[in-house]
Amino acid sequence: MADIEGMKDAKQFAQDVEFSSSGNFHVKGAANLDWGMKDRLSRIFRPDTGKTVMLAFDHGYFMGPTSGLERLDLLIPDLAEHADCLMGTRGAIRTSAPANYNKSIALRVSSGSSVLQDDLSKESLVVSMEDAIKMNASAVAVQTFIGADGQKETIEALNQAVNLGSRYSIPTMGVVAVGKEMERTTRFFLLATRMLAEFGVQIVKTYYCDDFEKVASTTPVPLVVAGGKKVPEKDALTLASNSIRSGAAGVDMGRNIFQSENPKAMIQAVNKVVHEGMSDKEAYEFYLHLANPEK
Ligand code: 5RP
Repeated sequence: MADIEGMKDAKQFAQDVEFSSSGNFHVKGAANLDWGMKDRLSRIFRPDTGKTVMLAFDHGYFMGPTSGLERLDLLIPDLAEHADCLMGTRGAIRTSAPANYNKSIALRVSSGSSVLQDDLSKESLVVSMEDAIKMNASAVAVQTFIGADGQKETIEALNQAVNLGSRYSIPTMGVVAVGKEMERTTRFFLLATRMLAEFGVQIVKTYYCDDFEKVASTTPVPLVVAGGKKVPEKDALTLASNSIRSGAAGVDMGRNIFQSENPKAMIQAVNKVVHEGMSDKEAYEFYLHLANPEK
């Protein structure tokens, strides 16, 4: 381990300079991967835009049924056509997502804590890669708690997933967790996203923060931004727009879609921002129009 005494903070972000090793492949950092990895990544990130709209509904694996997620069997069929990728647990997807949608799947494969505990940071790899293959997963998602008690075991779980994923050409999406007591600073996200990329994940899911351009420029794989707690639709579209404009390759949004007044209109407005570069203001108008067609 390098002596960290005297280590200087990063300064040369060159955030206006495009990532230089993409070759002719549309996913950042994936040019040197094999065919199977590229095929799966192409199911998640649209080749025409290089971006993705993931719909996250994996909350029940540690929270049980929550607002908007009471009936997965009703929610998923309603929204799936507007998502590029469905992020959920095997139990949710197998039972409630019709298998004829042909949508890419980001399969949640880590767990270990529940809301009955104070410390949610203890997770390990609980789903076999064979089961992920049987579900035709385009990626497996493992949550890591950098800076929390569960850091070591979640880093081990993540690396285990990367090792198994390399064997079968299944990308790993490393999820940067933020907990009650955990930092949410630019410094934290610079550290966490880069650590996950260096462990070998092909996608990092993270949260938006100040100076997000710096986080995007120092992470050599695509960043997908989580929606976070429910905010007004207008603000959630601003979050999506700021993320894309600052270098994110997509969003992985849950509550701000399924807890929206009109989830179907909301996911379509998010699509406009992510894939068509619509501004947050225009996307909000679009949302209002879909949500209240008679007005
Ligand atoms: C964190 C996750 C969740 O899927 C994600 O954060 C939920 O999405 P949202 O915050 O938009 O409701 O990966 O464990």
